[in-house]
Amino acid sequence: MSKQAVLKLDDQEYTFPTIEGVEHEKAVDFRTLRSASGYVSYDEGYGNTGSCQSEITFIDGEIGILRYRGIPIEQLAKNSDFIESSYMLLYGDLPTQAERDRFSGLIKDHAAVSPLMANALKGFPSDAPPMGILGSMLGAMSCYNQDIATNNRVTDLENFDAAAATAIAQTATSAALAYRVTRGLEGNQPDPSLSFQDNFLHMMFSEPGKPYVAIPEVSRALDLMLLLHADHEQNCSTSTVRMVASGGANLFASVSAGAAALWGPAHGGANMAVIKMLEEIKESGDDGSKFIDEAKSGKSGKRLMGFGHRVYKNFDPRAKIIGQACEELLAKLGIDDPCLDIARHLEQAALADDYFISRNLYPNVDFYSGIVLRALGIPADMFTVMFAIGRMPGWVANWREIAMNPKGKINRPRQVYQGPALRDYTPVAERG
Ligand code: SDX
Repeated sequence: MSKQAVLKLDDQEYTFPTIEGVEHEKAVDFRTLRSASGYVSYDEGYGNTGSCQSEITFIDGEIGILRYRGIPIEQLAKNSDFIESSYMLLYGDLPTQAERDRFSGLIKDHAAVSPLMANALKGFPSDAPPMGILGSMLGAMSCYNQDIATNNRVTDLENFDAAAATAIAQTATSAALAYRVTRGLEGNQPDPSLSFQDNFLHMMFSEPGKPYVAIPEVSRALDLMLLLHADHEQNCSTSTVRMVASGGANLFASVSAGAAALWGPAHGGANMAVIKMLEEIKESGDDGSKFIDEAKSGKSGKRLMGFGHRVYKNFDPRAKIIGQACEELLAKLGIDDPCLDIARHLEQAALADDYFISRNLYPNVDFYSGIVLRALGIPADMFTVMFAIGRMPGWVANWREIAMNPKGKINRPRQVYQGPALRDYTPVAERG
């Protein structure tokens, strides 16, 4: 028998069961709260609310743990790669060699976007933000892949493997096309002979007569970045994907909503905001000390971007791995990026400053990401797009978890109404 929670309200007692997760997280099961008591629970921002029971990713924010299907991110970063970890996120276990080869082959087979879709791209203004283009193309995928995006659960699950491979592959292809179109360049066709990450860099940077030449250090660093972004429990964008999926919408419609949610500077847009912050500090001649004072004062509305997290109240384990990879990559490529020195100074100063310590503000996944991406030749307006390429397997895995739940209900939160009380309509002659 699970532990019981007792709520005393209006001289009445209500008892609710509790749920305990595999890692001993505890939840009060309030699914009967409203029908039993007439009350709803209120938790603006959902920081204290479990929206689902999921088997995909586990985070312990207090001690900085992140595991994909039970495997620590540190082990995956060291031993796995983006394709293998993506397979595991989608299907539950690390693949056999045959399973991996089939999955990787599906991704290669589905990498080319429809010529009609590539043509539609040319309708975007040359200064369009690549993240806006990507979100449009993800939604458009349901137009160009109607046979595997039917909004009929049975059919969409029967075609899941093809739809998942299409979403993962064509997010990278669409991203590269968005980059090329906004620079007035012709797109490059995917090259199935290349790895996922080298094919992306080829589609981004190959020029007529001058094909992109893979660099092992660059390839490994990009693969690591994508792996580290692949999933992250019920973050803003993943919860959005689940919200849309709960209504029965197909995979592409659901992940296009996730991309829209990711775009904001408080979420996936933070990696771009970090580089902008570091550049501004560099241009001002400050070593970061002045900026930290401003971020602490709150007056300027400035925040130390790349710091803080809704869940991690300790180091984001991804930030540690990316920080290390950043140092190694820049050393191997012989890049001297003053923004790295400023970032290190900011980190050291903030970690010794009571303002940040008392608020449990530590570097998150975005703090060093921008420096790594820039070293890979990726421009800042593509940083959030890179986050989306990495997060796609997590979004797809969460869509599948919703779709495979036969008892799943449409997500429909309640509210507390604070608008005008009952009043009558007044004719316009009596207003004002
Ligand atoms: C991602 O959810 C996920 O898993 C997301 C993600 C993923 O993989 O999907 O991990 C990816 O989105 C990482 C977060 C990227 N965002 C940023 O780096 C933007 C900068 N960070 C902040 O905006 C903020 O820390 C949030 C949004 C990330 C978290 O905000 P919270 O937990 O809601 O914290 P809060 O806004 O309530 O602030 C608490 C206090 C406040 O001060 P007081 O009112 O107590 O005086 O901390 C301060 C805030 O002003 N604060 C900061 C700060 N973040 C919070 N002060 C300075 N710099 C910061 N970065």
